[in-house]
Amino acid sequence: QINEAEAMVFSVPNYACQRRTTLENHNAVLTDALSLLAENAELEDEDGRGVAFRRAAAVLKALPKPVTSLTQLRGLPCLGEHSLRVIQDVLETGSSSEAESTKQSERFKALKVLTGIFGVGPKTAAWWIRHGINTLHQLRASGHTLNRAQQAGLEHYDGVNRPVTKAEADAIGEIVETAVTSVLPGAQVTLTGGFRRGKLTGHDVDFLITHPEEGREEGLMPKVVSWLESQGFLLYQKTTRNSYLESKDGPARPASNMDRFERCFSIFKLAEDERRETKQPETRTDGVTRLRASEDACGRQPALSQADEEPKPWRAVRVDLVVSPISQFAFALLGWTGSKLFERELRRWAGYEKTMSLSSHALYDNKQSRYLKATSEEEIFAHLGLEYVPPSERNA
Ligand code: GTP
Ligand code: MN
Ligand code: MN
Repeated sequence: QINEAEAMVFSVPNYACQRRTTLENHNAVLTDALSLLAENAELEDEDGRGVAFRRAAAVLKALPKPVTSLTQLRGLPCLGEHSLRVIQDVLETGSSSEAESTKQSERFKALKVLTGIFGVGPKTAAWWIRHGINTLHQLRASGHTLNRAQQAGLEHYDGVNRPVTKAEADAIGEIVETAVTSVLPGAQVTLTGGFRRGKLTGHDVDFLITHPEEGREEGLMPKVVSWLESQGFLLYQKTTRNSYLESKDGPARPASNMDRFERCFSIFKLAEDERRETKQPETRTDGVTRLRASEDACGRQPALSQADEEPKPWRAVRVDLVVSPISQFAFALLGWTGSKLFERELRRWAGYEKTMSLSSHALYDNKQSRYLKATSEEEIFAHLGLEYVPPSERNA
């Protein structure tokens, strides 16, 4: 039994970018419950509520020990009434009844399945649900028109929804490296996103591409994409062009948080022999595990039905590519490393505490009316008056 009077009272700074949040989480049951409620809010297109739950979860992720009583949380930031109720429920009963009933709800399940399709957001999913579509089967049967992204998303649903391992991310990294240096020798590829933060799995693989000579990176993305396409590595790609440097005297002040780099959302075709890992039975999205043909105990060819296709010798992997000029590289690297909440908190800190605007392109000081240059992430933290936080400690 833990004596409440002896239990330590935690202290945590207000902004996630002031904290060191590693992957070691001493309060996973609490943060899982809050994260699920955040996800549900986001699926319901209620981003404000989503952020509130994400902030509460991030505070608990930063604690050095498991929470044992509510009194330990007195004075902590970002814990609203609703989050505290969820925490109390978990502390008293071992689980959150709200998170559990959300998880079981038909609407949550349908929203999750439908937004699991690449190219489908909460609004589209909600619209389909209103029209009686709750499953992939119903969507396929409905004859609803899908855009190109959604068609690819539906076709590669299982692959896109299966976590990507670090080994797979490294294999993709080698392919991207080969593509980039083939079309522009000297260009550099950096792994960003969750894998740069040390995560062992991810929902995609993120890369930032640059060249040490300013300007040499221009027009690089289409060449990289053509190379990848010619080698058969792409199942889907959509490239969007840079629109940032179009004003005459340097970069215009970013209008929103959306960045304007040349970027490519893609789905890679990763061959099994490029995955550098021991083969495991495939897990289908319905949770049924099936053996590969080669593992059939009797050496028979498994019977093929419509519902059970032959196992593929490759898997689909979501990959994000971004090209940045070297002058903006540090900002792009910081902006694409995440976590999403860490990024949001950096921008909130910059705006509220420093009267600065931070984007993935630049840092603008609104008091001095000028851009603050940086060639490293360390310099950006210094400009912001923050202690440097390495990627592995940005897992807020
Ligand atoms: P998993 O992929 O789920 O493992 O996590 P992740 O942290 O890698 O997430 P994700 O790939 O979604 O995003 C990686 C980083 O890129 C995050 O910091 C995002 O904020 C950032 N990001 C994603 N899309 C955009 C965008 O359109 N613009 C900018 N500036 N950043 C983005
Ligand atoms: Mn990612
Ligand atoms: Mn991504």
